[in-house]
Amino acid sequence: MVKKKILVTGGAGYIGAHTVVELSQAGFEPVIVDNFSKSDDTLLKGIEKILGSKPVFMEGNCTDRTFLRSVFEKHQFACVMHFAAFKSVGESVQRPLYYYHNNIESLVTLLEVMKEFNVNDLIFSSSCTVYGEPDQIPVDESAPFKRAESPYGATKQMCERILEDAYSSGFRVISLRYFNPIGAHPSALLGELPIGTPNNLVPYVTQTAIGKREQLTVFGNDYTTPDGSCIRDFIHVVDLATAHMNAMQYLDKQKGDTFYNVFNLGTGVGVSVLELITKFEKATGVKLNYVIGPRRSGDVGKTYADPTKVNKELGWNAKYSVEEALLHAWQWEQKLAQ
Ligand code: WQD
Repeated sequence: MVKKKILVTGGAGYIGAHTVVELSQAGFEPVIVDNFSKSDDTLLKGIEKILGSKPVFMEGNCTDRTFLRSVFEKHQFACVMHFAAFKSVGESVQRPLYYYHNNIESLVTLLEVMKEFNVNDLIFSSSCTVYGEPDQIPVDESAPFKRAESPYGATKQMCERILEDAYSSGFRVISLRYFNPIGAHPSALLGELPIGTPNNLVPYVTQTAIGKREQLTVFGNDYTTPDGSCIRDFIHVVDLATAHMNAMQYLDKQKGDTFYNVFNLGTGVGVSVLELITKFEKATGVKLNYVIGPRRSGDVGKTYADPTKVNKELGWNAKYSVEEALLHAWQWEQKLAQ
């Protein structure tokens, strides 16, 4: 039987690579597009080791219409999963135009080329950052967008608006609002890319634990939370990847040629930064050297998902615990150090 081809933009990156593995193991043929601007071939090699075969890969930029046309001329896609975007909150504050151009231009160009080639189904990587500091937690999809704390967050809000305005011209779209992706593939052959100083908490934890970083700074313990540190909804990257499969199959079942819906992708469990550190130490047996520092500007104090809608409508539930995710992240860090 001919395998359905799925375009995975940003497939050499953290979440994209894990989704490529799930797609392939579920009998689909993922085609990876990546420009290596925030990645290298580390995860492509990991995918090959897990699957036992090289994934189809085309190097190029999603803002490059000619390149994207060449991809769609070569492959007839059943669905597109669009992961390719810059995602560092801090970097986006330093370089707003770099972020607006890349994140907005890549989506618009992708949609235009999809239209040219009559490819209608799209799964879009959005983020809980679109909510800002929520008035109510847990956060459900009806929560209003606050003014984004960073250009990165603003690009996610704008991309969702573009999709809302554009889908009625013939697209079937699901936006998945990720909470905090963490962890690594249980094989320790895939994980967060170790390029540059990590922006996110968990790679900073594992790099401190392995001695690549002197110590971890907890950004503030004076928030109105039980232990004073921020609360987040940490979701295993493999759970995130499988949710994309559920979303694609849900989309495939929709009648008609236009559709748009959004889903929060979280576990529904809030864990504080200090609780995560304790969980890491328990899961790995490694003592973590950390200090309490000042708050990081732009951080929200607490946010975690109400996953009712994604559980019910997509039939998806997070399977891994935070402890398992932290253990997998640690095993990946140890593998990198070999
Ligand atoms: C988590 C918590 C920090 C580092 C952002 C984006 C979101 C998504 C994930 C892309 C915060 C604290 C962190 C450190 C710390 N982006 N922290 N010391 O900011 O919740 O979310 O990244 O997928 O869209 O908004 O994630 O991991 O940076 O921070 O204390 O060295 O850990 O203050 O409370 P964040 P994060």
